[in-house]
Amino acid sequence: MNPKKIRQDFPVFQNHPDLAYLDSAATSQKPEKVIKAVEKFYRRQNSNIGRGLYDLANSATQMYSKSREKVAEFIGAEPEEVVFVRNTTEAENLLAYSYSFEGDIVLSKMAHHSEQLPWRRKSQKEDKDLRYIQTENGKLSLESARKVINKDTGLVAISHVSNVFGAENPVEEIIKLAHENNAVVMLDAAQSAPHMRLDVNNLNADFMCFSGHKILGPSGTGILYGRKELMEDMEPYQIGGGMVNSVEKDKVEYSSTPDKFEAGTPNVAGAAGMKAAIEYLESIGMSQIKKHTEKISEKIWDTVDQQEGFENISPEGANIVSFRSEYAHPHDIAEVLNQYGVAVRAGQHCAQPQVREIDVNGTVRASTHVYNTEEDVEKLEKGLEEVRNLFG
Ligand SMILES: Cc1ncc(COP(=O)(O)O)c(C=O)c1O
Repeated sequence: MNPKKIRQDFPVFQNHPDLAYLDSAATSQKPEKVIKAVEKFYRRQNSNIGRGLYDLANSATQMYSKSREKVAEFIGAEPEEVVFVRNTTEAENLLAYSYSFEGDIVLSKMAHHSEQLPWRRKSQKEDKDLRYIQTENGKLSLESARKVINKDTGLVAISHVSNVFGAENPVEEIIKLAHENNAVVMLDAAQSAPHMRLDVNNLNADFMCFSGHKILGPSGTGILYGRKELMEDMEPYQIGGGMVNSVEKDKVEYSSTPDKFEAGTPNVAGAAGMKAAIEYLESIGMSQIKKHTEKISEKIWDTVDQQEGFENISPEGANIVSFRSEYAHPHDIAEVLNQYGVAVRAGQHCAQPQVREIDVNGTVRASTHVYNTEEDVEKLEKGLEEVRNLFG
């Protein structure tokens, strides 16, 4: 793949040709095809779905179903197992609200707030014990998982890739361990879906979620996958229009999954954009994307490693690079990098318990996608040298 050519597919770089965008873990940039798909929906197909009987409404409904089919195919699921949500956060909240189970909750120390807080609230409300899998060298510790997952565990919520450390966690082993103890697993794939092929049959997670806006799709799109037999028994999260078979004076019959989890008018244009995003990713190939982002991330890791006074927090080989410096606060580093046209995230990355354990000031985080080039890393290097000149 040719990242310089790929970069031309992204209008934001026509408007900001010198931008080294290293903040894709927060949100990715959007290719022309995604922007056009959203525009096309509003220009040519706009109507509500699942309601109108006229041609325009039928065409919008069909497009929405096709988008769901595309997502299902992308992750090896059935369309009924795919619920459209706003983002990963909504998927976690939906599940924590709707899925009832016996037993305790196991979370990880590295969990993003959107994973951590809904399950913490559930544990408080339902008086469930809550235990944490610890982090070791930027990854979930298997030894710690073996200590906290046991016959009392009902649900294990883990991240495939941490947004702080960027390394792939040993999720297959943890999922196996959870299943041996009859617990179900929710896999947060927000940081893996952008870079690697996810197949729910291989991963064997019972539930999985990710955000469309991190996989080159539009904002306000996300996915909750759930095994059909589990989803069928779940309570709807929100109730209202578009998710019922019948409503009588004192009786309501909800639709089956996935409709019962999508009350109200959904983000129809977003679904059009999501389908276009997946088609775009597939046209490049997920394995090529993984290879490319790993290569650029490795260059970033080496660059930080070689700079005096800087230290990588992410383990070697991680696909997101968090680092800190003895010279300056992460926010000051990000400010200086901004002067060099480099966009990074600085702070605690919505994972405060984990980041506080490493450093109260937080970290600087550089994250990549298909459009990043070696020149982006050279700009980062110049910016880091300037940080040393100014503060060192
Ligand atoms: C690992 C992880 N989980 C969940 C989220 C939340 O995603 P969203 O803000 O799209 O809901 C993020 C966002 O950065 C993340 O990195």
